[in-house]
Formats: sequence, C-alpha cells, structure tokens
Amino acid sequence: MLEPTTDPSVTTGLSEAIESLLPALEEFVRFKDEDLGASEFAHWSSSLNEALPEQGRGAERTLQVLRDEVIPRGLRTGAPGFAGWVTTMPTVIPVAAALSASIAGAQRWWVQPFNYLEHLALEWLKQLLGLPAFYQGTFNSGGSAANLIALAAARQWACEQRGFDPSQDGLEMLVKPRLYASSQVHHVVNRAAAVLGFGRRALTQLPADKEFRLEVSELRDQLNKDKADGCTPVAVIASAGTVNTGAVDPLAEIVQVCREEGVWLHIDGAYGGFGLLDPEVAGLFEGLAEADSVAVDPHKWLAVPLGCGATFVRDRALLGRALTLEPAEYLEGAASQEKSVSSQFDGLGYTFHDFNLEQSARSRGVTVWAALHEIGAEGMRARVSLHNSYARELARLVQSSPVLELLAPVSLSICCFRYVPIELQGDTGNTETLNDLNREILDRLHSEHHHIPSSTEISGQFAIRPCYINPRTTPSDVAGLATAVERIGAETWASFAYRQ
Ligand SMILES: Cc1ncc(COP(=O)(O)O)c(C=O)c1O
Repeated sequence: MLEPTTDPSVTTGLSEAIESLLPALEEFVRFKDEDLGASEFAHWSSSLNEALPEQGRGAERTLQVLRDEVIPRGLRTGAPGFAGWVTTMPTVIPVAAALSASIAGAQRWWVQPFNYLEHLALEWLKQLLGLPAFYQGTFNSGGSAANLIALAAARQWACEQRGFDPSQDGLEMLVKPRLYASSQVHHVVNRAAAVLGFGRRALTQLPADKEFRLEVSELRDQLNKDKADGCTPVAVIASAGTVNTGAVDPLAEIVQVCREEGVWLHIDGAYGGFGLLDPEVAGLFEGLAEADSVAVDPHKWLAVPLGCGATFVRDRALLGRALTLEPAEYLEGAASQEKSVSSQFDGLGYTFHDFNLEQSARSRGVTVWAALHEIGAEGMRARVSLHNSYARELARLVQSSPVLELLAPVSLSICCFRYVPIELQGDTGNTETLNDLNREILDRLHSEHHHIPSSTEISGQFAIRPCYINPRTTPSDVAGLATAVERIGAETWASFAYRQ
C-alpha cells in the first residue's frame, strides 16, 4: 500500500512565485545600480556557497535568494551601453514566450501548438533570410551546435559521394579530409572539425584579404593543391559576418568555386546572417541562398533568450541519415500512424530529433516565433539597419577624431578602432605600446560601467570592438563611446607615458 505523501516541491502557486520575482527583475532591467556582480563579488560568492542541503530551505527562501542575492547582481548584457561579444539580453516578449513554453510546451514533440510554432518559426526564418522554400531547418542550442550539425551533413554528403555511409561505417574510408575557411572563421568550426572526426588540423585556415574576407584565389589554389595531393575536400565554410570585424566573405564567388569543385558550401551566419535585412548591405549576401547549409543564431541579433541557433540544409534527408536516432519503440511506438489523433500523445507533431544532436528539448524556436510575431519582418529590418548604422556612425566619429584610428572596414554592426595619442602617430614601431595602452583604456571603460564594448586583435593590433545588436542601445550610447575613449585615452596616456 502506497503512503499518501506528496512531492516536497511546490507544484501550484506559479503566479505568486513569478510575481514575487518581478519587482527585482524590473529593477534589474533599469540598470540603475552599479555593476554589483563585480563590486559585491566577495559577498555573493561566499553567501551563495552553501553545502548541498539535506533538508530543503523551502520555496520562499529559494525565491528570496533569487530575488535578493542573485537577480540584482546579474549580468548586465542588456544595459544600453553594453556592446560586447555578439550577445545581448533578450527582449521582453520572447522571454514571456520562453516561460510559456517551459510550462505549457515542455517537450518539443507531440501534437501541441508549441511544436507547430517551432515549425512555423523555421519557415519564417527561411523567408526572412531569402532561403529557398525547399530548404529545411532545425533549431538547436546556438552557433556551436548549428555549425556542427551543418558540417555533419557535409560529412555525410562527402562520404556518400564516395560510396559509403559515415554514420554507419565511420571515417576509415575517407582519405585525408579537408575543410577550408578564412583565418577569421569562428573557432567553433575548429572544434566541430575535431568532434566530427576530421581533426582540427583538417581545417585549413586561408589568408583573408585586407577587408578580412576569404581570399578566393587562395581557396582555389589550396583546393587544387590538395586534390593533387590526394586529399578529400569536404566543405568550405564561409563566414557571413565574422565575429572579429563583421566581414562577409565573397559568398557568390565562393558558391561558384564550390560548384566547380564539387565541394559542400556551408555559410556560418551565426552573428551576421541577419545583416542581410539591411538594404544598404544586402548585396554582400548574394549567394547565401545557394549554400548547401546555413547556420544562424536567433539568440544573437534577434534577441531571443540564449540557447537558440538554427541550421538550414538544402537536403534534409541527408541530414537525417547523418543524425537520425534509431527508431525507439517507446517513442515511435507510442505515436499513432492514423491521421487524426484522439490525444496529443498519439502523434509526434513535427519531428526535430532526427535532424539534431538532442532528443528531448524545450520548444526553443517558440521564442523566434514570438520575436517575429511581435515586430514582424519590418521591425527586424529596422533593428538590423539601425544597428548597422550605429557602427557606420561610430566609424565616422572615429575617422573624424584626431586621436582615434579605425582598424577595419565596417561591414555590419561591428566597429574596430583604437586610441592613438598624437605623439605615437605615424610610427609603426609602437604596436606593443598601443596594445598595452588600449587594453588599459578598455579596462577603465569597463570599470566606469556605462560603455561596455569588448576587444579583438586585428593584424596584431589590440582593437576596441563594439558590436551593436542590443535593442536597448541608443544613438547617444554610440557617440558617448567615442567621447569616452577619447577622454579615457587622454587620461590613461598621460599616466602611461609617465610610467614608460
Ligand atoms: C560567426 C560565429 N559563429 C559561431 C559562433 C558560436 O555561437 P554560439 O556562441 O552561440 O555557440 C559565434 C559566436 O560568437 C559567431 O560569432
């Protein structure tokens, strides 16, 4: 006889629990406080450091820790001056959709509207990106997974062309596989090469031109050389928006090379793919719709909650052969073959798990549906165009300043620049000094809490690198960054020169 006990966790009172956190969250997104995550690090890291409780602390205490200790010290990637990396805090409605999906759509399969909205969101993304209707997509956890999945399809294709199935037979018969990308490719591609069994050394990183785009003549030469050496070219990975400078590789020319050479073309548009929504730069993306696979990251420019990437492939059956799960009786057996279902658990809805790395997953694409449903294609075009105009405006300010130097052309919403004091101008032997100086300027900028760009290295030069994808950023944050770097640069250089 079972005892009449209940689970110790709270399973009702959802509104009260969430409502009790809302004031703290509302306060957090005003970004009024200083950066408490840093200034109170010692306090929160010791107060949160508890041993595994044998007896639970209870619902109210747990909510209280979130409300009082955690939320106020959260990561301020949504603050208007935050322009670091390629990440931002999500906007409100996609967050509401994520909450809804985690409660009412807690598994992505089966016959339920969250499943349908994921399918619809993939269709909408295709339209937004101008991809042919027959391409098929799948949501995944982000750019790392999106690129890995695409390259799994490339691997499948390259091996099938040579008469074997790598998902069954492994890679023993694949002779000296090679992948090609520019030196600017995101390092998740190196990792994908390792995970897929090619090995990191199979990725040849070719020189980029002075605009940081893949040098197509180098690609041709390398392909010819490798073929002569008996290597197997598996895929070319073009970047549609590099993470360093936002450069878009010459896609149309690369399409042509890949067609001529019979090599799979994958385009990594994780950051910049949505850049094509800006009519001013849409021409850079010519050729995108002819790729064999494309990766994009809605959790970047579309500002949906983190954990949402998408892969589109020309041939989904191929992707299915690469990633299918063997039929599982407990899953497929539970699904009715009938057209009409009498319970939502009788049918699988749109299946994504055969084209993906995960079986169970939340309905993450619902956040994309929400973002697009809320502001439409027009709203997204306006966002992307505005952000690109921010980077162009910053470049203009940099170029009109006597002490700022633009380090790379602006293609999308990234602007790379540095501070160069008058005394060091025109002298090419000062790279190390300028690198140290600009590193210190960035640290001081961060410690002032308002303008938070990140950094990168451009041909050995340390660059301050804002990337505008944050919907809360305003034009005054853009102009303010240039002014702040001039001011902090002058102050830092004064003490820096003294110390040299
Ligand atoms: C061009 C590019 N590809 C891939 C990635 C990896 O994406 P994620 O961080 O979502 O895994 C990034 C992230 O910065 C990126 O900018």
